[in-house]
Amino acid sequence: MGNVTVVNHPLIQHKLSILRDKNTSSKDFRELVKEIAMLLCYEATRDLPLTDVEVETPMCKANFKKISGKKLAFVPILRAGIGMVDGMLALLPSARVGHIGMYRDPDTHMPVEYYCKLPADVNERDVIVLDPMLATGGSAIDAINQIKKRGPHSVKFIGIIGAPEGLKALQEAHPDIDIYLASLDEKLNDHAYIIPGLGDAGDRIFGTK
Ligand code: PRP
Ligand code: URA
Repeated sequence: MGNVTVVNHPLIQHKLSILRDKNTSSKDFRELVKEIAMLLCYEATRDLPLTDVEVETPMCKANFKKISGKKLAFVPILRAGIGMVDGMLALLPSARVGHIGMYRDPDTHMPVEYYCKLPADVNERDVIVLDPMLATGGSAIDAINQIKKRGPHSVKFIGIIGAPEGLKALQEAHPDIDIYLASLDEKLNDHAYIIPGLGDAGDRIFGTK
């Protein structure tokens, strides 16, 4: 079974509390999503392999470490996952970026896929799927199904807020993946929104409501 890590670093808790506030502007919301994604990326890449390098400092030559040529792909789930990409790329600028478009049917809450464009060599890459909200888990599960059809080396999921229902469903559907969240919230409401959550992440990032 993959690991579930709820990253409760004080910086993340502080930023997440501002993110949740209904009075936070779209501009600040976008900035906070980016910053939280960067902090989660730091934790989710803890196992990146290192290789020895010789460096000549102004004082002498010595052996140090660099990240070995790991091939990564970030795959945001549209729309809200887009808000996390810049934070991830700030730390790992050479990663490739794929996109999967999903929306939840408002009545059934089931995900509907409308777009999928992944790097051509995704079968040679370690993939990190990005979506701020893990509610029923349907969107993440379907996105990872699509990615796995292309045979990636590995898949991880980074979200900001998860509901217990969605986390359980994702673990059952994809027991091999590591999952990183900034918070595991209380529950889903009758409309499959996360409580207390932060509302509709896509609308808050893009100001569409
Ligand atoms: C939101 C969110 C996730 C999904 C989570 O997207 O960004 O993709 O819901 O819900 P689930 O775990 O129950 O599938 P939404 O469907 O609102 O689309 P949008 O990002 O385009 O607004
Ligand atoms: N999608 C969101 O954006 N928010 C939720 O609470 C649930 C799904």
